[in-house]
Amino acid sequence: MYNNPVMPKIPEFLSFFAHSRTPSLSDLEPNACHEAWENYCQHSGRDNGIDLSISNATRVGLPGIFPDKDRMIEAVISAYEASPQGLYQTRDAISRYYTPFGATPNPDDIQLFASTSEAIGALIKLVCQPGDEVITFNPTYPLLDCLCSLESVELREVALQDCAGEWAIDFWALEQTSSPKTRAIIVVSPNNPTGHCIRKTEFDKLVTFCDRRGLLLIIDEVFAGYRLDNDPELVTQPAASYAKSGLVVSLSGLSKVCGLPQHKLGWGVFGGSPDIVREAMQRLSFITDSTLSVSGWIQRITPYLLAHHDDFSTPCNDRLRINLETLSSVAKRPDTIWTVTHICGGWSACIRLPGWAGDDEAYACELATLGIRVFPGSFFGFRPTHPTLVLSLIVAPELFAAGLNRLSDFLRVALKR
Ligand SMILES: Cc1ncc(COP(=O)(O)O)c(C=O)c1O
Repeated sequence: MYNNPVMPKIPEFLSFFAHSRTPSLSDLEPNACHEAWENYCQHSGRDNGIDLSISNATRVGLPGIFPDKDRMIEAVISAYEASPQGLYQTRDAISRYYTPFGATPNPDDIQLFASTSEAIGALIKLVCQPGDEVITFNPTYPLLDCLCSLESVELREVALQDCAGEWAIDFWALEQTSSPKTRAIIVVSPNNPTGHCIRKTEFDKLVTFCDRRGLLLIIDEVFAGYRLDNDPELVTQPAASYAKSGLVVSLSGLSKVCGLPQHKLGWGVFGGSPDIVREAMQRLSFITDSTLSVSGWIQRITPYLLAHHDDFSTPCNDRLRINLETLSSVAKRPDTIWTVTHICGGWSACIRLPGWAGDDEAYACELATLGIRVFPGSFFGFRPTHPTLVLSLIVAPELFAAGLNRLSDFLRVALKR
């Protein structure tokens, strides 16, 4: 009976997944670039390929931060204290982490999460009903789209203005895109992958824009400790501390601050009108109390990890600068017909191909068959008129230089075809 081949197919509307928030199985297939890279690795041996897209800080030879054994044991065996906001000692350590950047937020205005991504989901729950809208500026981090669709809200995108290689927020386009269904704006600063950091004037305008419309402003600052431009007009972290009105949340976490994505700790610093912040924190505790997802031991060990974040962030910052210099020097070669866009911070760089170059995914796939892995800009929302290849700047410098030379040789030929 169960194997009867003539059993009628279940109609679509009766399927187990007809109402799932997950994409269809065909959309979950690996993309062509990934397949080309996997194919190269299987047939040529991974050693010959150079992955210029890697963003996993634990796999690029940077120093890790390792607490001593006694400290770890103490963190693991400590009695459990259920706290929807997160342990005070952890929030206090996060507050002190910010002091060298010029602000020491009140630990009471800090909320812990299991990751920055989880924080975005929780903040959307805080202000949105299914069917509402959230706005972001693209090109940007593609996970925002998934996080919004998992909360049943629509992510609407406003193109960042490309002003002769500098990125800026287009407030006219923002006004046009915002609707009565808009509930929040998410800005990634430094942006992944453009490296755009919001300017103080842009931030003030955004806070006013959001406050007037009752919108939550989320600033994803996971890369804020990796500034590559010392322009004093750029906002320093945590931006939320400087907001005088509305509701603003600055997000960050151990995954980039300490290069420890596996330990799962993120946080939000809340700022704006004190009464709105208080209400937001109270409502949020209803959400976080329902899962209490941050593990006890990571909360206890985080003060140590943050006190030692320099052990990772300093060599990481040095590496970003070395790789950026290598990239700039290759871009200056007389036979190079691509450019590097200006980067204010973050872990990636964008190679802008000439506008007539066409589909950047096709270049990335062809490069993968030659053993060089890069991300096509279209994955991040670069338009077809702006073909772009995205490179990670945390790759070991010798590998980065070798990979870039191969990439540059390829483009010299490919762009003349
Ligand atoms: C801009 C941005 N935000 C958030 C994250 C994810 O951070 P977490 O590991 O804390 O979820 C990433 C990861 O690459 C990212 O690029």
